[in-house]
Amino acid sequence: MASRAQSEVDWRLEADWTLPPELQPKADRDFEIAPPSEPLADWSAYAATYDLLLEHNPAYQQLLEEFESFLAGVEAPGVIYDLGGGTGNYAQLAARRFPDSAIYFVEPDLGMSRRAYEKLAGHDNLAFIASPFQALAAPEPADLVICAHALYTMPDPQTRLVEMRKLLRPGGTLFLIDLGRPLDIGDWRSYLFGHLKQTLGIARALQILWRGREIAKQNKAIYQAQRDGRYWTHSSSEIASAVAQAGLEVISQKTVYRGYSDLLVCRAAE
Ligand SMILES: C[S@@+](CC[C@H](N)C(=O)[O-])C[C@H]1O[C@@H](n2cnc3c(N)ncnc32)[C@H](O)[C@@H]1O
Repeated sequence: MASRAQSEVDWRLEADWTLPPELQPKADRDFEIAPPSEPLADWSAYAATYDLLLEHNPAYQQLLEEFESFLAGVEAPGVIYDLGGGTGNYAQLAARRFPDSAIYFVEPDLGMSRRAYEKLAGHDNLAFIASPFQALAAPEPADLVICAHALYTMPDPQTRLVEMRKLLRPGGTLFLIDLGRPLDIGDWRSYLFGHLKQTLGIARALQILWRGREIAKQNKAIYQAQRDGRYWTHSSSEIASAVAQAGLEVISQKTVYRGYSDLLVCRAAE
């Protein structure tokens, strides 16, 4: 059965996992992204080992559990967007839970999209949109918008929140997780190493950290961008007021990801 999302975006699957032309991101100039003075996070490089987080980072796994409990408590949304969907971990849970919803997976980075495409190709209710959120031509309004650990990387997050509210139908829901505090690389290294050593032993722990060295490198780039203000940092109360200022009502809020991030469930006014 061709889903609504599929037919409207008109994407065609290739036999192999190479992205078909309509899924390829456009040239940077089309997105009006000014070249940064220093490199920001390299999401394609990050993509290669990103899912080690899924396998081995309990704090990341807890976020997905939070998302699953959230999904268990909502009625099937007609239309879902995952903004900055990365390797597709949130979209996969949404697609499994709501096989009849139309899901738009919005991800500008080719490396991330490829991983997501491999993971999600079995779901026929999912359409990929290779665009940054600020350039998105949304095919239809959303009942649910997911934005996990992506808002802080986007230009002008306050404007992006307003756009998320506009993307939602009245009464629609935003599930937002955002990294707010500067990533302390040493703190994360000891947390992960402690966990891996305890569960898998020291040799395996060292092996996994070595395999995940690109994650550490990209987290360092994220930290730099946070420090010099190119990525947004915020306290829990700052993100709550940003969301309220964008015209969204905060239904629930908690601190997650070992105190580094905020999780907010918000509603667009009726
Ligand atoms: C830390 S990853 C989070 C991925 C996924 N949501 C997750 O939590 O596993 C951040 C993602 O945001 C994407 N991103 C960066 N700038 C973006 C923009 N302007 N619009 C949409 N996504 C963006 C990146 O390509 C990357 O995949």
